[in-house]
Amino acid sequence: MLKVRNTILASPLLLAPMAGLTHSALRTLLLSFGGIGLLSTEMLSARRLPVENNKISPYLITTEAEHPLSYQLLITDVQEVIPAIEALHRFAADFIDINFGCPAPRVRKSGGGSSLMSNPELVRDIIRTARKSTHLPLSAKIRLGECLDESTLRDFCLMLQDEGLDLLTVHARLRGESFARKPRWEWVGKVKKWLDIPVVANGGIFSVDDAARCLSLSGADGLMIGRAAAQKPWLFAEIARALYSVDVQGVSICLPQIYGQFVVGLSRFRPERRLGRLKEFSHYFALNYAFGHHLAMSVQKSTTVEQAWQQATDFFAKTDSNGLAQVATNDILNAISS
Ligand SMILES: Cc1cc2nc3c(=O)[nH]c(=O)nc-3n(C[C@H](O)[C@H](O)[C@H](O)COP(=O)(O)O)c2cc1C
Repeated sequence: MLKVRNTILASPLLLAPMAGLTHSALRTLLLSFGGIGLLSTEMLSARRLPVENNKISPYLITTEAEHPLSYQLLITDVQEVIPAIEALHRFAADFIDINFGCPAPRVRKSGGGSSLMSNPELVRDIIRTARKSTHLPLSAKIRLGECLDESTLRDFCLMLQDEGLDLLTVHARLRGESFARKPRWEWVGKVKKWLDIPVVANGGIFSVDDAARCLSLSGADGLMIGRAAAQKPWLFAEIARALYSVDVQGVSICLPQIYGQFVVGLSRFRPERRLGRLKEFSHYFALNYAFGHHLAMSVQKSTTVEQAWQQATDFFAKTDSNGLAQVATNDILNAISS
């Protein structure tokens, strides 16, 4: 259990915000396995949010079941904060997260994401304004900074806490470090020692063993999982059961069925918004198979979601026919063709 402000999370396992991946279809799939304490949207432009329609925007569509749900804001200017938070209140957000970690050049150029860590006074204004504007739990997600520098990182984290942040997630890499580099979980441990608010560790957790090692090196209050959520949507349930004794029902893992479930979830989006999301998910999910690149590539080359599903079933027929036998393939085709 993890208490954040006035909310108790059923498990200290959080879904990482991921552009193109953490939408309603993936969240619903994750919920079907259980073990997850907090869901997330992908990063949302604070500037655009006030004019978005949450009934049709593919970034904002959610179902009744998708709670608690954290909305991540990509902020570039303090003026954007109040209108964006008002929009999140209208959308019945459960948590508000602010992105200070994204290293993508496009995001940095706009003045958001990790570029903000070099401008602590602007960050202070953003958090102070956000804190005054909401009673919802307020969190932030950071990387370790530009270079390993304890005092800069410590001052930054303490400033976030002093301004009223409720939870801090640390992606245990420097701004310029790629996923190929081993995450520096011990640095999350330093942050944990400096702060009184809950600190969540993120980066490189793909198994129960990774989660256990990350916890022992960081002493974190919770774990945030990104890419593995799309690769192994059942991982939260496994970690919750093994490390936190959360009572999660055992579910059998049938990969074609899970893939089909995701495809059905995509039918919540307008037809032109489905294929891109299926390609993004397939890139990670295909890693479950020794020859999964065939699955990922054939979906990648597809020009319609129906064709992609046909390619996927051809792949499963060759590599996982027992699994495929458990899937109502025509029902899935009907769901995504509607
Ligand atoms: C496809 C993709 C999209 C991402 N989008 C976001 C985002 O919108 N906001 C954010 O804070 N981090 C984003 N991230 C970073 C993840 O939240 C996470 O910090 C990172 O993937 C490390 O965690 P993992 O090793 O569990 O994947 C993204 C990562 C990936 C792979």
